Amino acid sequence: MNHFAPVALDVARIRQDFPILTQTVRGKPLVFLDSAASAQKPRAVIDAMVTAMETQYANVHRGLHWMSERTTEAYEATRDDVARLLNAADRAEIVFVRNSTEAINLVAYSYGRGVLKPGQAVLISAMEHHSNIVPWQMLRDERGIELRVAPITDAGELDMAAFELLLADGKVGLVAITHMSNVLGTYTPAARIVQIAHAHGAKVLLDGSQAVVHRRVDVQALGCDFYAFTGHKLYGPTGIGVLWARRELLEAMPPFMGGGDMISSVSYERSTWAAVPHKFEAGTPAILEGIGLGAAIHYVEAIGYDAIAAHEQALTEHAILRLSAIDGLTILGHAQDRGGVVSFTLANAHAHDVATLLDRSGIAVRAGHHCAEPLMHRFGIESTARASFAIYTTPAEIDFLADALVRVREFFA
Ligand code: ALA
Repeated sequence: MNHFAPVALDVARIRQDFPILTQTVRGKPLVFLDSAASAQKPRAVIDAMVTAMETQYANVHRGLHWMSERTTEAYEATRDDVARLLNAADRAEIVFVRNSTEAINLVAYSYGRGVLKPGQAVLISAMEHHSNIVPWQMLRDERGIELRVAPITDAGELDMAAFELLLADGKVGLVAITHMSNVLGTYTPAARIVQIAHAHGAKVLLDGSQAVVHRRVDVQALGCDFYAFTGHKLYGPTGIGVLWARRELLEAMPPFMGGGDMISSVSYERSTWAAVPHKFEAGTPAILEGIGLGAAIHYVEAIGYDAIAAHEQALTEHAILRLSAIDGLTILGHAQDRGGVVSFTLANAHAHDVATLLDRSGIAVRAGHHCAEPLMHRFGIESTARASFAIYTTPAEIDFLADALVRVREFFA
């Protein structure tokens, strides 16, 4: 098959940066198609963390000694890296958290409980990850804030007319929506969503966990109010994520957690808060992980989002062509604007069985509800298998997957 158009990205060269890709699994070369769950790590990230541990490590923000100052510089440099990555207007708008889940929970607790009022509503979509559903349900049950869900079409796109209608009564204080679905691959029309939401007086949070890996994100151009992402999908370590929010919003929000490093002064009677972003960063942070995230951002920037997006677009088109030619295979989601995840069902085979059989060929895919149970139910299914692509994915790996899926289907015939 030869529908794969070569692009600028030198994948063979990139693969050399990822030590794990030389591993064999069950005697076969590893074909890692589960990067949407967590991406593999380039040498630059591994080295940055090991070097920090070996040569430059102490607690940050506290010490008046050389080691602490150097570590603080290295850790805080990542805040500048993230600000540049997202085109944030101000580095103080970058709050470090553990992951996207914590970023969304921070907004649900702090903005949801501190700024939204009972009687107002939060509007999500029918293609959200559990992390962008459950925190809002908790807010609804505790504070009487309504939770609305905008429907999606059979193609897996946001139903824009229904979305706008759900905003019409002016009660929605916050729209919280994915920027790219982890199941359908759909990119939501974020700038348009923001425009409509703002016209109805609602702020917008974008869950960028998947999107930021594949496309350049410019929060000022998008016009959104909150943007959440996690480091480990962006080739960085686990345990570090980002909430970006407009400075005036962060300043109006009460702290999420109390403790060291987030205060200005403490007495038994009262405490006052540090300036943003530190007001939201209680306790010793994920120092090494923060340093690792900085290295990951430099790595991605050196490759460039144009090359990344072109490569992954071509891979996705190739995968859709190869997979949709397999008898009995149904792809979930056919959005016009989509990224590098392809979820599918295969005849009468359970997704877990599909994944287990693929694993025998050294192919790693995710199977299950992908933390999006309501989305599965929207399509009348319980689970899918999902192949997801990254900068190191090759068209040959997709061909290998397609050939293996034909064997899986024959096994279940
Ligand atoms: N949210 C991650 C995924 O989609 C874990 O696999």
